[in-house]
Amino acid sequence: MTQLKDKYGRVIDYIRIAVTDKCNLRCFYCMPNEGIDFVKQDKLMSYEELLRTAHILSKMGISKVRITGGEPFLRKNIMYFIKQLSMIEGINKIAITTNGTQTLNHLDELISYGVKSYNLSIDSIDKDRFFDITRRDYFEKVWNCFEEMSKRDVNLKLNAVVIKDRNIEDLNPMVGLTKEKDISVRFIEEMPFNGTGANYQKLEWDYKKILSHIESHYGKATKLQDEKNSTSLNYQIPGHKGSFGIIPAYSRTFCGTCNRLRLTPKGIIKTCLYDEGIFNIRDLIRAEATDEQIKEAVIEAVGQKYKDGFEAEAKRTKSPNVTESMTTIGG
Ligand code: 5AD
Ligand code: SF4
Repeated sequence: MTQLKDKYGRVIDYIRIAVTDKCNLRCFYCMPNEGIDFVKQDKLMSYEELLRTAHILSKMGISKVRITGGEPFLRKNIMYFIKQLSMIEGINKIAITTNGTQTLNHLDELISYGVKSYNLSIDSIDKDRFFDITRRDYFEKVWNCFEEMSKRDVNLKLNAVVIKDRNIEDLNPMVGLTKEKDISVRFIEEMPFNGTGANYQKLEWDYKKILSHIESHYGKATKLQDEKNSTSLNYQIPGHKGSFGIIPAYSRTFCGTCNRLRLTPKGIIKTCLYDEGIFNIRDLIRAEATDEQIKEAVIEAVGQKYKDGFEAEAKRTKSPNVTESMTTIGG
């Protein structure tokens, strides 16, 4: 079997594809209220280009794809793309990260394509706090999406970014959702990718503080065995059907087992969330590169993959401070 390996011996078998940078929410930790300078249509990777990329990568040992954004369901004809992607031999798992505002319309069809893993972003289960964070009035839609999805035979994870003074009250009630539902609720450390770089103070709510906040309410949580390339530290409250996880996205304790590449809406391959981008696959394709040339560029990029997110951040030259919006990277 072909494997893509970096110089630290990490096998790369997973790519996160951000299919659009557009979003109908404005989570303040992700982008400014007025939005960002969204990618023009002709600069976006076309579906044809994305499928060709996925096809080449599948032959290099990439077997898992996460579709993310922006909000993936805002991209026109996204179901066409997902269907084609699901038919590529070697792509064994497709997962989706979504904000849940339009997802339900597509759920049956997605399941019929074998898409069974969903990360639903929901930072608060209180309507007012949800609005305060996302600046858009979509709470009921998202909550309904959660309830419907939790009844289906899918692997459902809720993602909440933990933000000082905004949603700390939600942490314990969200863990409470795992009592009766076999879901995983994951709390993510806030990162500075908010589109401006401003308003990011030193992280206070790190993974340790999140865990101790939960344990001070529920008592000691049982540590679960984390999956091999997991970014989350996973726990269960004794007696609960589901579990919860904490993602040290800023503390970056998970880099040692990183198996990921990222592809941005503009076609930039990133080997780390914190790097500035390694090369542009769209430009290569539009310059009529052969499959072999694209393959070589990927191998070279993976060969240069940084040891961890701290090294990637330190090596930034064009914009030393991370100021990008998460929506241009793929959340
Ligand atoms: N810090 C942490 N997570 C973020 N996301 C977006 N911006 C940030 C940030 N600044 C996450 C959201 C969402 C996913 C798309 O990316 O939680 O679940
Ligand atoms: Fe949209 Fe997700 Fe960014 Fe929120 S975090 S604005 S839902 S892309």
